Amino acid sequence: MTALTLSTSSAATVRADAVVVGAAKGAKGVVVAPGAEAVDKAFGGKLAAVLETLGASGAEGEVTKLPAADGIKAPVVLAVGLGDAPAKGDAYDHEALRRGAGTAARALTGSRKAAFALPLEDAEAAAAVSEGALLGAYSFTAFRSNGTGKNAKKNDARSAPLGEAAILGAKPRDKEHKAAAERAQTLAAEINRARDLINTPSNALDPKSFAAEAQAAAKEFGLKVEVLDEKALTKGGYGGLMGVGQGSEAPPRLVRIAHTHPKAEKTLALVGKGITYDSGGISLKPAGHNETMKCDMSGAAAVFAAVVTAARLGLEVNVTGWLALAENMPSGSATRPGDVLTMYSGKTVEVLNTDAEGRLVLADALTRASEESPDAIVDVATLTGAMVLALGHRHFGIMANDDAFRASVQEIAEEVGEESWPMPMPSHLRKGMDSPVADIANMGERMGGGLVAGLFLKEFVGEGIPWAHLDIAGPAFHEGSPWGYTPKGGTGSAVRTLVRLAERTAAGDLG
Ligand code: BES
Ligand code: MN
Ligand code: ZN
Repeated sequence: MTALTLSTSSAATVRADAVVVGAAKGAKGVVVAPGAEAVDKAFGGKLAAVLETLGASGAEGEVTKLPAADGIKAPVVLAVGLGDAPAKGDAYDHEALRRGAGTAARALTGSRKAAFALPLEDAEAAAAVSEGALLGAYSFTAFRSNGTGKNAKKNDARSAPLGEAAILGAKPRDKEHKAAAERAQTLAAEINRARDLINTPSNALDPKSFAAEAQAAAKEFGLKVEVLDEKALTKGGYGGLMGVGQGSEAPPRLVRIAHTHPKAEKTLALVGKGITYDSGGISLKPAGHNETMKCDMSGAAAVFAAVVTAARLGLEVNVTGWLALAENMPSGSATRPGDVLTMYSGKTVEVLNTDAEGRLVLADALTRASEESPDAIVDVATLTGAMVLALGHRHFGIMANDDAFRASVQEIAEEVGEESWPMPMPSHLRKGMDSPVADIANMGERMGGGLVAGLFLKEFVGEGIPWAHLDIAGPAFHEGSPWGYTPKGGTGSAVRTLVRLAERTAAGDLG
């Protein structure tokens, strides 16, 4: 990963391939954002005018590269658009800084070192710039013959990610700044780990190898891990996980990976949907709907990354991750539409559509997680196409059995710069899942399909446990062009929200 340093150098004297400055949209045209004073001075105080002449407007995502003026050691200045300038006296929005740093890092692919001279009011702003740079510099090359992975032959320096991001204006000797930078580095590394897992094709990542990744990380960072294999799952009565996984040559796994802290007063359970490939099963998805379904384990990847982050940060809270891993395939041994499964909870489910598999594996994991009576449960899943139709590709939907908890989760998501929206759980939709043969069917009304899925999950959450469900089907996997710090492919959606939730729980900020 890109190295991160906090530097006390001035933007004029720092040794780097490029200096990154911020350009914002002011009332009367481009304004150069604070942090770049020394650069502006080298341009005779006319940097904003120079940028405007070059066609810049300060719009979000805009990149203007120009040769540095005399007096600046770095040969290139890169001005990145930050969007609307804040009102006088207000600080720049942290998410705007995160996106700007990400855009700049992407535009500096192939460079060894870039110095970021962006407006840093406080340690949190420094963390946002650090996160943006490290996330924006991400690239996935493990499966390119000229990449950096196992199949690497030679590495093309021009396409290598930015080597080092030096953050100017942060205070390297200040405890708060140092901690913020270390947190940003750990968080970005783990988000990038989640992205790697999501981007890994399903012929290279199945439930067994995913579980092995969890075991390796647990060993490295001192977490406790247990893996239930197909024998243990059968014996334990995990009908949801087995029912979904039984059509595949690669059998399911349930992973429990736990961070504990001796001073912890609270326990958070995180449950992730980990379908390493979703073909739809016997209710096969048509072509056009299955090409990106390696991403259907994004929830498990997010939970995994969040638990490891909690351990690496030594948070004073217990965080237990449950990874519900299975591959959904059609075959002679696959579950058929109409089959009835007996779930881990004892409830029976009529499987009307084998493509509604996420809720089946999650249900078992939710029941199992509830047995340990955690203080709260959050599940994360690429659960429904309906949520993508409702909210688009940037927001995840949040449902919950507790209004206050849902509001807290949304507020936390907003705070860390993840877009989300609250969704209702209308109880009248439950009757659509009535089954003539079993306790419940795995499908109901088509309209409001994301809410129906949430209502299904709710029935498997232990009585009295606050629970939230994040449907990340929209933001988990990005098919368009990269933007901000968001690359093509796996995004690591929800990791930042889960980590901040763990931190808030540790601090006793949540009920
Ligand atoms: N993994 C899909 C949901 C999905 C769709 C994720 C698009 C990411 C992008 C899920 O398993 C699924 O197939 N859901 C069905 C449920 C339906 C059969 C009730 C859906 O949303 O169509
Ligand atoms: Mn499906
Ligand atoms: Zn799925």
